[in-house]
Amino acid sequence: MVFYQVKDYEEMSRKAAALIAAQVVMKPDSVLGLATGGTPQGAYGQLVKWYRQGHLDFSQASSVNLDEYRGLSGEHPQSYRHFMEVHLFDHINMDRSRTFIPDGQEPDPGKACRDYDGIISKLGEIDLQILGIGANGHIGFNEPGERFEGKTHCVELAESTRKANARFFEDGEEVPKQAYTMGIGDIMKAGRVLLLASGAEKAEALKMSLYGPVTPGVPASILQFHPNLTVIADREACVEIRE
Ligand code: GLP
Repeated sequence: MVFYQVKDYEEMSRKAAALIAAQVVMKPDSVLGLATGGTPQGAYGQLVKWYRQGHLDFSQASSVNLDEYRGLSGEHPQSYRHFMEVHLFDHINMDRSRTFIPDGQEPDPGKACRDYDGIISKLGEIDLQILGIGANGHIGFNEPGERFEGKTHCVELAESTRKANARFFEDGEEVPKQAYTMGIGDIMKAGRVLLLASGAEKAEALKMSLYGPVTPGVPASILQFHPNLTVIADREACVEIRE
């Protein structure tokens, strides 16, 4: 594991963007595993800036996102497809037909998951997988459970996750109860994993994930077994580790 402790969210975002940019520069047809949420948003903003300045070209790259809420269309403002459009895809020259996100509107979970697994295997290896972390140690929407799920599956979202994500939804609007998420096996197959963490509310999860026992009760703990893991975490997210 390569561990960078940085000052704050801005520094984390710049460093993460630099790593993603390097990936695309060195291998223009990279498959990027992308994440949503507040954590990677700053890194995407930085990539957009560098793209506008002419430093980056995404025309040969592909992307595959971790997860999507079940029941939300790509146009819904809180869907992860919409998040990716607004924060990244609308501003760079990645070919839309090579950006993949589970189909939240597919009512049949079996089909939604099979279709996404098909897409993942067709793309081949994910070169760089970006991950945030939930305060309960989830990655993608792989919630704490009895076992590590290998492939794309439909999950019941933990109450704590729904509460944490309620900040993005309109007042009174329900956070979906289920989501489709890439499995832990898919994440572990990535050539390189970049785990990002910012803020005190991630400190306990980060410590448990990187230094606690490897257990499906803390899904991100499996990353201890990844041969090419890079962590960029800000000071607040590292408080438990320093102690
Ligand atoms: C969300 C997403 C995850 C994300 C995590 C943390 O529910 N499904 O992919 O990493 O929870 O979110 P945030 O970065 O907003 O703290």
